[in-house]
Amino acid sequence: MKDALIAKLHDRSAVIGIVGLGYVGLPLVLRFAEAGYRVIGFDIDPAKVEALARGETYIEHIPAAAIASANAAGFTATTDYARAAEADALIICVPTPLNPYREPDLSFVLGTMDALLPHLRPGQIVSLESTTYPGTTDEELKPRIESRGLAVGRDAFVVFSPEREDPGNRDFTTRTIPKVCGGCTPACQEAGLALYGGVIDRVVPVSSTRAAELTKLLENIHRAVNIGLVNEMKIVADRMGIDIHEVIRAAATKPFGFVPYYPGPGLGGHCIPIDPFYLTWKAREYGLNTRFIELAGEVNAAMPDYVVAKVTGALNSVRKAVNGSRILVLGIAYKKNVDDPRESPCVILMEKLRDLGAEIAYSDPHLPVFPKMREHRFDLCSVELTPDSLAAYDCVIVATDHDRFDYAMIRDCAALIVDCRGRYLEPAGHIVKA
Ligand SMILES: NC(=O)c1ccc[n+]([C@@H]2O[C@H](COP(=O)([O-])OP(=O)(O)OC[C@H]3O[C@@H](n4cnc5c(N)ncnc54)[C@H](O)[C@@H]3O)[C@@H](O)[C@H]2O)c1
Repeated sequence: MKDALIAKLHDRSAVIGIVGLGYVGLPLVLRFAEAGYRVIGFDIDPAKVEALARGETYIEHIPAAAIASANAAGFTATTDYARAAEADALIICVPTPLNPYREPDLSFVLGTMDALLPHLRPGQIVSLESTTYPGTTDEELKPRIESRGLAVGRDAFVVFSPEREDPGNRDFTTRTIPKVCGGCTPACQEAGLALYGGVIDRVVPVSSTRAAELTKLLENIHRAVNIGLVNEMKIVADRMGIDIHEVIRAAATKPFGFVPYYPGPGLGGHCIPIDPFYLTWKAREYGLNTRFIELAGEVNAAMPDYVVAKVTGALNSVRKAVNGSRILVLGIAYKKNVDDPRESPCVILMEKLRDLGAEIAYSDPHLPVFPKMREHRFDLCSVELTPDSLAAYDCVIVATDHDRFDYAMIRDCAALIVDCRGRYLEPAGHIVKA
């Protein structure tokens, strides 16, 4: 069974099923299609499936031409899980959020697995890519697959291989980002290496699915903790009259032993604010507390309030109150040069200022209309930045520093600027660092 699967993966006759066609799943579809595999994409969102059939994209940094080429190479997307039986490999890339109690919400992963189960057949490999706590693949996926009478390691092969997508990063592609892979058994591992070896330049084997799951969490926790540290340093430096950005730039000239992280208005994105708490939750089962994770979470979550205090102080210095002031937030995506607003601290900042009575507007060239979000609502469109539009606001906040903003024009035309990203190193009377 294993040898036949590996042979199909090697000669590219294997059919690849990718479940969840979002920021992670869609680039993977394109890479497998480009490498010569026939790919079937599965999603529960019919709008995405229909857009792909028309050769359209719904992610800014993925060009429509790439979808059209995949379609020409035989890619089809569907909402019909019955087609999972056609696939030799099923790669799961669905969301792994937190519930309102900040505990792992595996409902998307388990819902996907339960929907796939009736269509599994001997000889397939299932790979989970969604970020999750150590043990998910072994404790949740493996027993479900075995409940179908398929022996994992003999009839079916199961691996965990975390995604390392960095949307908007032009230096790396899906092919050139090394990929970690751990299997439930040695045979699973061998099949996993064959699956990813066909499309990724360097596959890094680890000894178990748990090791692979924890690898991804370590990467994200490393970022969350270091961003928390630098956010705390920002507050200390500010009180001492030192510009933290100048300090980071200087420290980053050290050629070894220092990695620069940058402060901001808080943590955003689908991964860094969420994933660390998957480990916090699981560690409790072992009687352990993850203190660094909790502390970083606390520091990072307090950042929007820090910015609000800076805005309040800045307005106060010109005898204005937040209540009634016109405030323009620049950049609502969670990081620069992307169109992803998930968990964006800039949106939390907008809400806090609105609650204090400010008249809020935003400008973001990547998000022309305020996106539909589960927990946030603004009926707003992006304001076009001109000298006149900028001059019409009491305060302009540089929340996310997209390259497409004209920073000289903003500096020259805005009455008051609160800079959360260190764009303005030169001191000026109307610029406040936050
Ligand atoms: N976005 C990133 O940069 C990134 C990077 C590394 C890891 N991850 C991880 O990858 C996973 C997916 O993240 P994403 O950013 O691609 O999310 P996403 O929201 O962009 O995409 C998920 C897709 O899955 C679909 N979906 C949901 N339930 C489904 C189901 N039952 N069956 C089929 N499709 C379903 C949704 O409609 C959506 O299209 C998460 O675990 C995330 O933590 C994301």
